[in-house]
Amino acid sequence: MSDALIEAREVCVTFGSGSRAVRAVRDVSLHIMAGEAIGIVGESGSGKSTLARVLAGLQRPDKGEVLFGDESIYQRGRAYRGEKRRLVQMVFQDPYGSLNPRITALSTVAEAVRFHGEHSRSEANRLSLELLGQMGVSERDAGKKPRQLSGGQRQRVSVARALSAHPEILIADEPTSAIDQSAQAQLLNLFQGLLGDGLSIALVSHDLGVIRYLTNRVYVMKDGAFVESGLTQEVFENPQHAYTKQLIASIPGRHLQGAGA
Ligand SMILES: Nc1ncnc2c1ncn2[C@@H]1O[C@H](COP(=O)(O)OP(=O)(O)OP(=O)(O)O)[C@@H](O)[C@H]1O
Ligand SMILES: [Mg+2]
Repeated sequence: MSDALIEAREVCVTFGSGSRAVRAVRDVSLHIMAGEAIGIVGESGSGKSTLARVLAGLQRPDKGEVLFGDESIYQRGRAYRGEKRRLVQMVFQDPYGSLNPRITALSTVAEAVRFHGEHSRSEANRLSLELLGQMGVSERDAGKKPRQLSGGQRQRVSVARALSAHPEILIADEPTSAIDQSAQAQLLNLFQGLLGDGLSIALVSHDLGVIRYLTNRVYVMKDGAFVESGLTQEVFENPQHAYTKQLIASIPGRHLQGAGA
């Protein structure tokens, strides 16, 4: 897959050793093309977040490699150095843990804006408020610290921080899990727009409705390995693996409506 923007080859991640070893990711290979959205689905504990962290350069695999362009990112030192650090952004599953508790939502995003570009403080604040506004975070809420925000607001602040870097690829781990349906639709529309502008997205989600709405290909994960992958529409309409059938059968009777549905 030479045209892939990012590619994981036979990646394995094991936590612990001996009888306590957990093989969180087992020989997983995936690729993401420029401008496409892929989904990663699977039950709790199947290894989705671990794989997302591997792609984001935050979890060195014990076997296999991740290629970004033609560079193997884990070869030496810190993964994604220099400009590449801006190009790959991650939204964490637990935004509480990934936000600095001592600074406001506005400062969180403004810090990222200034880190990734040359902006004055006031210009960074203006851009950050604009971005937070697009995420449905009001100016008033932008002045709050993480503990004063709701789970959904924290999630949206994390997304705003990631997008402020103008990444080429966004790795989003359950970005919609704590937000209500209307905010979810708003965020998905925003993602859809960014995809149209050339962003690539790797979306981890429990919500198969979200995966179906946004992604064009999907990987189904179970016990650290992929049991099935393919075009999202085909996998949803004609799942091959019993596990995928079971996941799809368990979708609650609600379906997102919108541009990509
Ligand atoms: N830092 C760690 N140390 C030890 N074990 C870990 C660590 N991180 C994850 N694991 C284990 O690896 C496995 C996969 O975890 P992971 O968080 O990737 O699952 P997940 O698919 O994201 O689950 P969920 O849907 O609940 O978020 C689990 O058994 C988990 O307990
Ligand atoms: Mg997870």
